[in-house]
Amino acid sequence: MRAMTSSAPIAVLADLDAYARAVDTAVAAAAAYYAGGETTLDDATYDALVRGIEAYEAGHPGQVLANSPTGKVAGGAASGDVAHSAPMLSLANVFSEAGLTAWAAGLERRIGRPVAGWHVSPKLDGLAIAARYREGRLVQLVTRGDGASGEDVSHAIGTVVGLPERLGRDETVEIRGEVLMTHAQFEDANAARIAHGGAAFANARGAAAGSLRARERGYAVELTCFAYDAVPVAGSSEEIRAADGLGHGRLMALLAELGVRTTAATPVPGRGAATLEEVRERVAEIAGLRAGLPFGIDGIVIRADSAADRESAGAGSRAPRWAVAYKLPATEKITRLLGVEWAVGRTGVIAPRAVLEPVLVDGSTITYATLHNPGDITRRDLRIGDHVLVHKAGDVIPRVEAPVLGLRTGREQPIAFPAVCPECGSAIDTSEQRWRCVRGRDCRLVASLTYAAGRDQLDIEGLGGSRVVQLVEAGLVTDLADVFTLTREQLLTLERMGGTSSDKLLAAIGVAKTRPLSRVFCALGVRGTGRSMSRRIARAFGTMDAVRAADAETLRMVDGIGAEKATLVVAELLELAPLIDRLAAVGVTMSEPGGAVPVGSAPAPATEGGGREGAGDPDGADGPTAALPLTGLTVVVTGAMTGPLEALSRNEMNALIERAGGRASSGVSARTTLLVAGERAGSKREKAEQLGVRIIDPDGFAELLDGLLG
Ligand code: IVH
Repeated sequence: MRAMTSSAPIAVLADLDAYARAVDTAVAAAAAYYAGGETTLDDATYDALVRGIEAYEAGHPGQVLANSPTGKVAGGAASGDVAHSAPMLSLANVFSEAGLTAWAAGLERRIGRPVAGWHVSPKLDGLAIAARYREGRLVQLVTRGDGASGEDVSHAIGTVVGLPERLGRDETVEIRGEVLMTHAQFEDANAARIAHGGAAFANARGAAAGSLRARERGYAVELTCFAYDAVPVAGSSEEIRAADGLGHGRLMALLAELGVRTTAATPVPGRGAATLEEVRERVAEIAGLRAGLPFGIDGIVIRADSAADRESAGAGSRAPRWAVAYKLPATEKITRLLGVEWAVGRTGVIAPRAVLEPVLVDGSTITYATLHNPGDITRRDLRIGDHVLVHKAGDVIPRVEAPVLGLRTGREQPIAFPAVCPECGSAIDTSEQRWRCVRGRDCRLVASLTYAAGRDQLDIEGLGGSRVVQLVEAGLVTDLADVFTLTREQLLTLERMGGTSSDKLLAAIGVAKTRPLSRVFCALGVRGTGRSMSRRIARAFGTMDAVRAADAETLRMVDGIGAEKATLVVAELLELAPLIDRLAAVGVTMSEPGGAVPVGSAPAPATEGGGREGAGDPDGADGPTAALPLTGLTVVVTGAMTGPLEALSRNEMNALIERAGGRASSGVSARTTLLVAGERAGSKREKAEQLGVRIIDPDGFAELLDGLLG
């Protein structure tokens, strides 16, 4: 487990001068961080710098500078003029399992007894807020500031989901929690900002900090708060006063009753843990789910759960001694943009790709990252040589977020945009956000045809890349439909093509004509759709005519198609209309065996927000309407299949799952409800075990599908 082994890097400060410079750098970075401004240090670098400062101060206690960030809430960078009812503290960090063990041992030494029980919750990556309720009404919002007093941001009341303006009861209490932007809110906020002529925010945390503090803006931006504490104040009920003594889980339940959203309402809810071993397990579990969460987390908070333990432990000036943050590897790092390459995709889209100075992000070294699109490069004023913020989490493709303007030297160079298609030299259509060669998919005809003939599409044996090149160069094929009208005589004119191979290829092409719509649709290479999506579309509509007759609104009924994708698919089908007509004319199958499965009875979408409801009961998941054995299930296949499933490729397994009403997925996450684990199943099995996902072997799975096989 990566998060468990990472040790903490540390900046080495050789002398007083280096120490003083480090303090200045850290203070400036902390100020930007808490104000929602531009960070010149990524979190991991900041943490390493502060550890270096701490180490230097430990060795030179006489030289500690007054503005040092150590021992201060928010690194001493934030302040405000609203006094807090009780200090709003920060948390000490650990970075490894060993660090956690040492911290827990220190705590137990301090209180002189074993900790009675723990509580483990996600550390949400936003900013702390105190929400003051008087007689059930939200009257004031205050940031953490320096921990003693914060900034009044009450103007944001009404924009924070999870902090209702009225509680369920007329309670007087101060709720504390983390304000953040979910990934969806972040996208919306950036879209709104760009639409109003502003620059996109670099990341969700900065966007949340900036939006919370922004007073006047011509548009609304939504935030979310998850509460993690309640502080009794004058006028609080006995119930609130007593709640803290009941343990964290009970406190969260009480807040939820009042209508406040809490960390318990996340897909990785806080939970009690009896032993440190259980704490470690839950830490690993939350770390494993991180990439699939609808918002960012930067660690896991572990707290002693009994009021007596917390009281004995007490607090320092910066942080309580009864809680700690187990920091997870950073998903964002700053590195340099060395160059930009322009690649033409199968459908003619010309996409920029960043070449980076290699940097370690979330466990892997990143050298390339996607850039948004040409318009975005211009809007962000990105330049070669810039320091850039790079984001990568889990299996997500790394992405360049924004340049760090504060680190400009003046030697940065503008990014050159291609004037003509880098693939074929034709003009570029720049009318849309994503640039495209005017020849569209014809620009990459060889790639398109090779893809169409591939095993998971039309599966035409003998029509590999080099054969396609020959056919295109000989002028025998100008689009996919031409493949189906090839004659023996034409094939015989090609080099290395004798009678036998020609006959074989023609036979394979004949078989390809009979492939079901799902494969034909996939072979078209419609942008925004792959194998699984093609199958879902084909199953939902039954015939190509029905798909083509569907408008964007109708297409949205297919699981996984949102507004943007629906519009794209409609436009793509329009563009592909002449080709589709020609394919139909030469006798290619345009229907799915079994016809349309009404969309309402298609597999239920995976639970929104990643909940694991129904995980234990796949057969009954959808009650009496579950006509197919896998209805409502999200299934992942791993390892080598055996028994009746032995001959099936992964794609065929996925097709089978979808025929059985399930949804096939490649990675195990909180949404997975069933794992089919064959021989030599590795990390996916481990992860499924950690998550408590139901695991089944290939034989058991074959039994479950019974009638659908063969
Ligand atoms: S408990 C005494 N629980 O992390 C502070 N904090 O780095 C007790 N945070 O100031 C805080 N998620 O803003 C707690 N589940 C969680 C949290 C959480 C995020 C933030 C909070 C805190 C900071 C410390």
